[in-house]
Amino acid sequence: MKRAALFCILSLLAGSIVSCTDKTGETTDVTVLSSPGDVLQMTFALDGEGRPYYSLDRGDTKVLLPSGLGFELRGAVKAQGLEYDGDKILKPDEVPPYMFNDGFKVVDVSTSSFDQTWSPVWGEESSIRNNYNELLVCLKHTSDDKLMNIRFRLYDDGLGFRYEFPGNQSLVHFVIKEELSEFNCAQDNKVWWIPGDYDTQEYQYATSTLTGISKVFKAHTNQYNSSTTMYSTTGIQTSVQMKTPEGLYVNIHEAALVDYPCMHLLCDGTRIRSWLTPDAQGWKGRLETPCNTPWRTVQVAASAEEQLASRLVLNLNEPCAYDDVSWIHPVKYMGVWWEMIAGAGSWSYTDASSIHLDSFDYASAVPHGHHSANNANVRKYIDFAAANGFDALLIEGWDIGWEEWANCNKDYVFDFVTPYPDFDIAALNEYAHTKGIRLVMHHETSSSVRNYERHMEAAYSLMNKYGYDAVKSGYVGDILPFGEYHYGQWMINHYLYAVTQAAKHHIMVNAHEAVRPTGLCRTYPNLIGNESARGTEYQAFGGNDPEHVTILPFTRLNGGPMDFTPGIFEQNLKDWCGNDSHVNATIANQLALYVTMYSPLQMAADTPEHYAPFMDAFQFIKDVAVDWNQTRYIAAEPGDYLIIARQPRQETLSGSAREFSQGRDTWFLGGVTDENEREFDVALDFLGEGDYEAVIYADAPDAHYKTNPQAYTITSKTVSAAGTIHIDMVPGGGVAISFRKI
Ligand code: NOJ
Ligand code: CA
Repeated sequence: MKRAALFCILSLLAGSIVSCTDKTGETTDVTVLSSPGDVLQMTFALDGEGRPYYSLDRGDTKVLLPSGLGFELRGAVKAQGLEYDGDKILKPDEVPPYMFNDGFKVVDVSTSSFDQTWSPVWGEESSIRNNYNELLVCLKHTSDDKLMNIRFRLYDDGLGFRYEFPGNQSLVHFVIKEELSEFNCAQDNKVWWIPGDYDTQEYQYATSTLTGISKVFKAHTNQYNSSTTMYSTTGIQTSVQMKTPEGLYVNIHEAALVDYPCMHLLCDGTRIRSWLTPDAQGWKGRLETPCNTPWRTVQVAASAEEQLASRLVLNLNEPCAYDDVSWIHPVKYMGVWWEMIAGAGSWSYTDASSIHLDSFDYASAVPHGHHSANNANVRKYIDFAAANGFDALLIEGWDIGWEEWANCNKDYVFDFVTPYPDFDIAALNEYAHTKGIRLVMHHETSSSVRNYERHMEAAYSLMNKYGYDAVKSGYVGDILPFGEYHYGQWMINHYLYAVTQAAKHHIMVNAHEAVRPTGLCRTYPNLIGNESARGTEYQAFGGNDPEHVTILPFTRLNGGPMDFTPGIFEQNLKDWCGNDSHVNATIANQLALYVTMYSPLQMAADTPEHYAPFMDAFQFIKDVAVDWNQTRYIAAEPGDYLIIARQPRQETLSGSAREFSQGRDTWFLGGVTDENEREFDVALDFLGEGDYEAVIYADAPDAHYKTNPQAYTITSKTVSAAGTIHIDMVPGGGVAISFRKI
């Protein structure tokens, strides 16, 4: 059968099989599946060479044309991973592969339906509906009886599919050369993308058509990152947001990335295909049956707001793996952090250029005098955080070794347990606890992952001893062992190992530079944060374009929350610490991010000194919740603007947010714009009955992210669900509103 046969008239019944005749007169079976509300329709078929294909439509609109499925596997399996041709050792590319994308026959097809509502431990809403129709296709390779199943789950808001390799067959241990999943777009979609890279996601987004990617690729690379490995000028990362000419929002990502390399994409015109992250030898996944791949996801929404409301990625993850989750909680925190990022202080204690960790005598070394994690400075932050009702304080640079942390390519840089001489870990924790603050541990691994795993048990035990219950970990620089990448299977397994080991110690994890999330926080809710994208720190490394925060919720946040670290009130870093970078955001924009950038872990990232002159605006950061009962996406367009309203979840309120919201109906609204000013009239129909006091933190009319970022107005008024609020946002600006029932 040729691909043309897939276009035959399809029945819309879930799981029906339709016989089609292609041009050659050959008859073939096309299986058709509809989503529960009949919004989406997919087909599955084998062509005449036994190649599996699927396609995806939304009513009359084609989203994906027939798209191939399958694998290229490593050919012969020999000892020590070496392949020979006579006496010549073959490189991975030279080994004749075993094609596992044709020669199949269908041995079974079954369908089922699922409809359940579940409650996340924390989230953007307190209950989520998981409703799909499922198609399971069981395939057998005709030449050698090897088995592979493909499981499709079709939702009203998208499609998920994964490959499953049953046990008890001749395929046992196998190595992937490439996954050949295609996403063959029906049109030359508009696409918001970042370069495909095995080591970093710290990019601003490019906007182009699919066919235009290579033309602007070079201009969107970030060669300054401490670890970066791109592979093609048409290579891009997921979660990638697209918009079809008909106005459909289509997003490709993956869900439940476990024991498998992270999927990137390669675009050949409008035909996109999977491109896995290789290991140190160039192979792309080592598996043992029975096993399955992560889900490949294609979300399809009629509007940008619908795309943001999609919970497909979370739904495709397994339910919570922990019986007891009482120790997991949202966190609003501050950090001894931004002053180092901006350059006003440092992580290190001395200017030594070489440190042998076990023998270096820090006690008698001469400190350089700008070590931020010192007792007095940390106490100052604890006092401010406690006085303003925060839960926690992160302290970076507390442990010995920072003199050598970045790019020394050294295995043993940190031991994760020994504080610098001016950081009294016992006294500071005790002081913090008496004031109701928990300290957040920091583990910068310098990407020396073997070293981190060697010290992990001792490091987590130390946290238990002093009462830390959350750790920020980091993976700056190239991965050690050399040749492995941040997003290869080996590292994917490490990140989850760190999370599950932490769970044994009742520790929550916020991993920076780790792989971008794929909804695993549903299963492992102690994964309360990730950076895994270009965050606020880049405001000190040259600046972020204002549109960045209007795109991230469609892309990076699709798989889980981001520790974006908003709340910068002093944009002029030059006068503060001689840093030429300018923070490209108004204060009102920074406030809005607490609502628009969803995270159960939210930092107020600036320093106590920088907040002091603006405590009236800081009130919003105190009041805002970080865990939500309901969310409404009011207006959105990636790259342009975003307005979101959220109602707090009463059960998890703490600190100053509890003071503001407990026992009262409250809502918070955040709006951000790109470099253009914008105005909106927002209907308040999300509010309950009765009157609410709205406190509106807005850009002053003369505010501008470049020239006048600190100009804002704060006004109060009585509003109700029947009314509207007019919003004006200046370039790089925003708006934040708290609503409290009177
Ligand atoms: C990069 C992280 O993103 C940043 O938050 C951290 O401060 C540094 N690494 C040091 O670990
Ligand atoms: Ca724009």
